[in-house]
Amino acid sequence: MTMPPYFGIDPDQAAAALGAPVTSDGFASIAKAAAAGRNDLSSRGLEDGGTRRLRPFSTWEITRYLIPVAQGHFRRVLKQNPDLPQGTSETEGGAKWFTLDEVLRLRAHFAAEGSKTKNYLPYRPKDLPAKMVAVANFKGGVGKTSTAAHLAMSAALDGYKVLVIDLDSQGSMTSIFGGKVADEWQTVFPLLARHYAAYQRGENQRRLDRGEAPQPLDDTLTEALGIRAQDLVQPTHWPNIDLIGAQLNLYWAEFQIPVWRMQGRGWKLWDALAQVLDEDGILSEYDIVFLDTPPALGYLTINGLSAADILLVPLGASFLEFDSTGRFFDMLHSTFSSIEEAENLAARALGRPETAFEWDAVRAVVTRFDGTQQAELAALMQAYLGATLSPHRQDFTALIGQAGEQVQGIYEADYRDFNRETYARGRETFDATYAAFKALLLGAWRRDEKAAQSTEAAE
Ligand SMILES: Nc1ncnc2c1ncn2[C@@H]1O[C@H](COP(=O)(O)OP(=O)(O)O)[C@@H](O)[C@H]1O
Ligand SMILES: [Mg+2]
Repeated sequence: MTMPPYFGIDPDQAAAALGAPVTSDGFASIAKAAAAGRNDLSSRGLEDGGTRRLRPFSTWEITRYLIPVAQGHFRRVLKQNPDLPQGTSETEGGAKWFTLDEVLRLRAHFAAEGSKTKNYLPYRPKDLPAKMVAVANFKGGVGKTSTAAHLAMSAALDGYKVLVIDLDSQGSMTSIFGGKVADEWQTVFPLLARHYAAYQRGENQRRLDRGEAPQPLDDTLTEALGIRAQDLVQPTHWPNIDLIGAQLNLYWAEFQIPVWRMQGRGWKLWDALAQVLDEDGILSEYDIVFLDTPPALGYLTINGLSAADILLVPLGASFLEFDSTGRFFDMLHSTFSSIEEAENLAARALGRPETAFEWDAVRAVVTRFDGTQQAELAALMQAYLGATLSPHRQDFTALIGQAGEQVQGIYEADYRDFNRETYARGRETFDATYAAFKALLLGAWRRDEKAAQSTEAAE
């Protein structure tokens, strides 16, 4: 009989195999080795310029998933319109492939010339601002980044213009979209600094009016005053997805923000991101803004949450994730209600309007679902959370983990690299995740549109 592996370990052999104790410099060499490996991986299959490239889309995929027309009709329209992109084939007479840019042009053509009863262009009420969507949970590894990235990609394939903002200093979302971020000045950090600097300038004016000396702004704040959100936006390999990236230094914001707040008690730190994006016109330049957040309820997450119209909280159907997600909602309640209480004490005294946070929709979303193991727990979660839990469960799919260095999820994968069945199932579950989200988005926009119409009618 063989012994279990933990019996019979020889202390001398263990000591010999242990290696030298690790010092803090040891971390630096581990980090260096990991960075070299990461660069090796991420440079594979890149263009010469070191940029990422999105795969092409076939006629089958376009007519099946992107533009609702029959293949025969699609081919006829292309033939009749030689100015439209005609696609390229890999072999003589083989299937035609199109870039996403070309797909977007084709869709615009069908929308302009085709049947008005078909949904060629996705619904977006004119003159209403973009919707902001935060994906958050204070637990790590629950699928925040994967969910946000896949939603951004499906919304882009659907024809929306998307901005992705990475608020996590780990920068996973930034890697997925091939972002290059040198330091915190290319993250949202200067936007938060600008909001505080503008507050301080207002305070200084009041000091001057009272005959007091103004407090000079430091270099960081002065520099931040000159930065607009558009300066931080970078294009990605997706023609209709842009990015404001993150990098390790963004974590500095978690230390800097409370210091500013100490110096400026009246500064509404939670409003900073939303207000700056609004001032800079980002909400009219894009249709949807996705905010990926770090696994913590820090100041960056609070900014993301308070900016959001729609909040998605991913969690796995496991006891530990259900448990900690419940506590996350508890923390959300105490955080936002204590901000409201403190603000409204002052607002009532001054006769000003009261602060009340509000979201169009808040949904918990089951991710990495394994129906053979987790059906019972998911049903229990559904029973307790009711409508707050999105009824669609995002299945665990091998397509995500194994998709390879350059392919960061299902929508970037070439279906020919997979068994069709595996591909179709994996894609189906993320398409359904998008459909559930899109129903929230359209519902929220429609509600706003109707409210705007009834205000107009009343005027
Ligand atoms: N539906 C899914 N199927 C399989 N693996 C998934 C799925 N969603 C996420 N993952 C994997 O789970 C891990 C954690 O996901 P991630 O999105 O990075 O979580 P978070 O942002 O919450 O930390 C990643 O390795 C990711 O590839
Ligand atoms: Mg993440």
